[in-house]
Amino acid sequence: MAPDPDPLRGIPLLEDLPPLEGKRVLVRADFNVPLHIGVRGRATVADDFRITAALPTLRHLLDEGAEVTAASHLGRPAGAPDPRWQMDPVRERLETLCPGVVLMENLRFDPGEKANDPAFVQRLIAGYDAYVDEAFGAAHRTHASIVGPPQFLPSAAGRRFAKEIEVLGGILCAPARPFVAVVGGAKVADKLEVLKVLATKVDTLIVGGGMAFTFLAAQGHHIGDSLCDETHLDDCRALLDSGVRILLPTDTRALEPGGTFGPEGVGPRGSVKVIEGDLPDGWKGLDIGPDTAAEFAAAIADAGTVLWNGPLGAFEDRRFAGGTRVVAQAVADSTGFSVVGGGDSASALDELGLSDKVGYLSTGGGASLSFIESEGHLPGIDALRHASNAPRG
Ligand code: 3PG
Ligand code: MG
Repeated sequence: MAPDPDPLRGIPLLEDLPPLEGKRVLVRADFNVPLHIGVRGRATVADDFRITAALPTLRHLLDEGAEVTAASHLGRPAGAPDPRWQMDPVRERLETLCPGVVLMENLRFDPGEKANDPAFVQRLIAGYDAYVDEAFGAAHRTHASIVGPPQFLPSAAGRRFAKEIEVLGGILCAPARPFVAVVGGAKVADKLEVLKVLATKVDTLIVGGGMAFTFLAAQGHHIGDSLCDETHLDDCRALLDSGVRILLPTDTRALEPGGTFGPEGVGPRGSVKVIEGDLPDGWKGLDIGPDTAAEFAAAIADAGTVLWNGPLGAFEDRRFAGGTRVVAQAVADSTGFSVVGGGDSASALDELGLSDKVGYLSTGGGASLSFIESEGHLPGIDALRHASNAPRG
């Protein structure tokens, strides 16, 4: 389906809700945040970006006189209460940031959430007068709390949710050109559908990270012991032949045969070398080399719009973080409009203190990719379009 030139068309916003004075509003938030486990196993919120992103909506509802209850999932508990994934650390942070909002226990403690069980939907909405979806990060999930309530309650997209649709939808239909997408990450299979869509939208597609090696192999290069997904060689070949300009690594930071990599303390070992072109047997490419980083950065510098998702190397090992750093810096420096999605890219920016230097940082990882793949048709978005109070026509 082609994207609508007005990405917010048909989506009810906070202003489309009935008067809220004295009403009970259920807000589905995505407070699935990274936790820090401290002394005696006490968990605290390690990064509250997703909580702060929801504050304008929560404060608006409180200002309107509503009684506000937020609900979220946290982690991936197996459909039963699990002390590791209780909402307490989130609740603690939320209380400091926005007093007066009640936070339910982890939605995924009930198997009905992921199963989209109609009985669970009814239990969830009982006693509420309106529903607000402020969980863009989970909009690609057909879960009870996402797609259920808009069938029964006047509903709206939260401010941040609407902004995500506006920004991501906007760059899909009318990007400032040249439009450059930088896609990294380990597995080509995870990003293939996104790459296929992007290939029809962008002027330049930059591919880095582990997934680039399947493309290089598809071109007939020797990639040593690097990641290669043999089952997707043909897909990569088709993309390479599709006519879009694709930039791939031309040099690689590689680890010697038998070496190990990983975060500090997990025993990274072995010598590392920059290798131009093909890799000898046994060598494993784990980051883009300096020439490639410079070439990618130059393409990003010229962009009118740049979209970045996914690290360019195994950046959790400091020896292989250089490429991701150069790209993060280039995205931050670019004079075009930059949009970044995905937890790994966001944490690379954060580490470099560059988070506020990008045009837009999405709260969605998987959701922002699914948004592109589906050209804006995520279950959570379509559910809002079908709400009884959605604007028509
Ligand atoms: C995320 O962090 O990607 C969202 O909160 C969705 O979580 P999930 O991938 O466990 O459904
Ligand atoms: Mg995810």
